[in-house]
Amino acid sequence: MATEEHKNEMDDSQRILHLLFEYMPKIASERKVDRLLVLMNDLGRSIVRSDRCSLWLLDKEKRELWTKVAHGVDELRIPMEAGFAGHCMTTGESLLVEDAYNDERFDRRSDEKTHYHTKSVLAVPLKNSVGKVMGVYQAINKQGEPGYFTPKDLENLSLIAVYSAKTVESTMLNAELEATQRDIIHILGDASEYRSQETGDHIQRVAEVSYNLAKFMGLPESYCQKIRLAAPLHDLGKIGIPDAVLNKPGRLNTTEFAVMKTHSVIGREMLRASKRKLLRFAAEIAGTHHERWDGTGYPDGLKGEDIPLSGRICAVADVLDALSCPRCYKEAWPEEDVRAEFIKQRGTQFQPELVDVLLDHWELFYSGYRNRRI
Ligand code: C2E
Ligand code: SIN
Ligand code: SIN
Ligand code: FE
Ligand code: FE
Repeated sequence: MATEEHKNEMDDSQRILHLLFEYMPKIASERKVDRLLVLMNDLGRSIVRSDRCSLWLLDKEKRELWTKVAHGVDELRIPMEAGFAGHCMTTGESLLVEDAYNDERFDRRSDEKTHYHTKSVLAVPLKNSVGKVMGVYQAINKQGEPGYFTPKDLENLSLIAVYSAKTVESTMLNAELEATQRDIIHILGDASEYRSQETGDHIQRVAEVSYNLAKFMGLPESYCQKIRLAAPLHDLGKIGIPDAVLNKPGRLNTTEFAVMKTHSVIGREMLRASKRKLLRFAAEIAGTHHERWDGTGYPDGLKGEDIPLSGRICAVADVLDALSCPRCYKEAWPEEDVRAEFIKQRGTQFQPELVDVLLDHWELFYSGYRNRRI
């Protein structure tokens, strides 16, 4: 009866509307591609009422499609040409299959591997903003009547595929930009390290020690992550220090040390005009990592809690590394001397609580230096 059918269709759009309202806020706020895929897979499954649903994304380099399932540890991967998903991927056409085993495009190997029985299949291509196929939305085994997917299911899945493509694209772009930002920070950090002929990876070690100090101080994870990302730039200003001073084999005289001290301000000035919060945070670290708790540090002679926390943390990490490793002007200190120096400088050079954390977890902090080849 026509009115009955109309009513069912209305119920179905109500149901889908509810699903969209439930999922959209979660999807819109998700920044990780793999968690986004898990959400999209759940949403697709509920919308078309299938037993399984996967949003497969193209990995061009490996020529594979990949996705992620809720409780699966690893990603799932299939060759980009295989089976229905592969067909949809390469032709850019949707598929509506009632019985997979009667279709020559079916790749039985996946059923054999997973002891699953595929019957009905629905697959729609996912196109990016310039119309290229970037993946496939695939639903398997319609639940309930009529036992296979209908053109209406195809229409519904195609609609969310358009939305998914946009969301996945912008999430990937964001991830790419963040990774680029991290890379650039490391390249800049390495540049200052390279010039000063440091052996090893001072920059990364200072970042890790800062991260752990922040963690044991009970600071929020987001802050700990931030300091780990920004600490590699603490000595960026050394780029502006003449070679004769930066790499002088012996002790610096007063004039030379005055020049050396400017690395703190140079670094701060280079970074602080940035519009990126993370780089302004790095500016704070560059400008304050040589301040001392008792107010006798440089460049501003800040004292106690007037010194930004990031600078107080990085000061401990920087000196731990400087004492524990050889420099162009000195040998590495013996472990006991390094420890004794921190006890001596507790409350003078360094914030007492930070020294306590360092000593409480000395094994963790120092073990990285004990077995270093130098
Ligand atoms: P750096 O070598 O990474 O040292 C960072 C900080 O670790 C130093 O900041 C200082 O607080 C501490 N530190 C390093 N070595 C010693 C040490 O033997 N004894 C003690 N008590 N503390 C130490 P500071 O002093 O502001 O120096 C900043 C940077 O200036 C140093 O970074 C290093 O690149 C350079 N520098 C300092 N002194 C000399 C020197 O005598 N000769 C040369 N060539 N460079 C020096
Ligand atoms: C891809 O972008 O295709 C692969 C990246 C990932 O596996 O997270
Ligand atoms: C470096 O920049 O390579 C080491 C000097 C420092 O720790 O300040
Ligand atoms: Fe420094
Ligand atoms: Fe340093």
